[in-house]
Amino acid sequence: MYQLSFSLSEFLAEYWQKKPTIIKGGLFFNTPEEGFVDPISPDELAGLAMEEEIDSRFISNLNDDWQAEHGPFSEEKFAELGETNWSLIVQASNHWHPQANDMLAPFKSMPGWLFDDLMVSFAMPDGGVGPHIDQYDVFICQGLGKRHWRVGAKDEGQYQEVCRHSALRQIEGFDAIIDDVLEPGDILYIPPGFPHDGYALEASMSYSVGYRSPKEQELVSNFADYVLACDLGDVHLHNPEQKAQDKHGMIQTADADIMISMLQKASQQPELLNNFLGCMLSQSRHQLNIVQPEDEWDIDEFMQHIESGESLFKVQGLRALYHENNPLTLFVNGEVFELNESLLNFIPFITEQDEINHKILNQLTAFPEAMQLLIKLLNRGYWFTE
Ligand code: SIN
Ligand code: CO
Repeated sequence: MYQLSFSLSEFLAEYWQKKPTIIKGGLFFNTPEEGFVDPISPDELAGLAMEEEIDSRFISNLNDDWQAEHGPFSEEKFAELGETNWSLIVQASNHWHPQANDMLAPFKSMPGWLFDDLMVSFAMPDGGVGPHIDQYDVFICQGLGKRHWRVGAKDEGQYQEVCRHSALRQIEGFDAIIDDVLEPGDILYIPPGFPHDGYALEASMSYSVGYRSPKEQELVSNFADYVLACDLGDVHLHNPEQKAQDKHGMIQTADADIMISMLQKASQQPELLNNFLGCMLSQSRHQLNIVQPEDEWDIDEFMQHIESGESLFKVQGLRALYHENNPLTLFVNGEVFELNESLLNFIPFITEQDEINHKILNQLTAFPEAMQLLIKLLNRGYWFTE
């Protein structure tokens, strides 16, 4: 089991979205003595980068000549690479690699909806992506090798953007407020807006646990899409009291007020807003490894599966959420599932666990609604059997 060496609550109070920091030996496997163990090897990472549906990037900077390419990459590409100045980055590695997914366990006390993905980066000596600014909160956990990191003061418009390659968003440079070398198990936390730059000192693996806070404009625009998709508010302004006016170009305040109240009405329905949030936040921004079953599950097959003694598994990175004040409405990958009261104790197996083992499955036979829910989730490909 991966574990943090520090209290996440204390960390949040002092640093979260406030200031960057380095936590030496912040992450370890089983015991602090054992230290950090890489969940994935560079070869396995290269394997992921060869897959069509996995988002990967290759970046090189030999002699300050910046090159950037999107995957998938071929075997030949990896065969021809030099010994320095390049790095390979795989987004949402947690969706595709079980041990990479396990590495996220100690970060589960952070809200699931806020988490974005685990980005894994392999870099040869002097490889990096150059100085840049992200709009993400990130815990960069060092695995194999060492990496030199510099972090600058928060962006207040003082940094100059520069285009060293059309696919890279870099900045000119910055003065460091953090300048240090990360070793295996060290964590660098960077809030949004702080410029940073990391160069490998030796072949290096970095694990970026990324969190993405939604923008206000995104909430508004996604809410508008949701209102349309649900075909809500399909009514025109209705004003049988319309008054004449002598200035043709004027918008009467009374008319504007009616339209403003139409807008407000949509955004003042807590149930609608909560359903919208649940649907939006339960959708991953990265592709999931969902494979719908060839044959639909039914109750007979489900019972057979229970007898086989095998577990059920949740698709890695799949989001299953509920609102604090309404645990019986489940949001799974943008879909709503209404549960009845009898399933209250079953909800954590859906929202918290990656596996439902045969012991739990056996107990479920007393709860037909729980079995029906799991059958639905299996048929969507959200849960699967090995
Ligand atoms: C990297 O791992 O190469 C880049 C991580 C970052 O700076 O966001
Ligand atoms: Co970055």
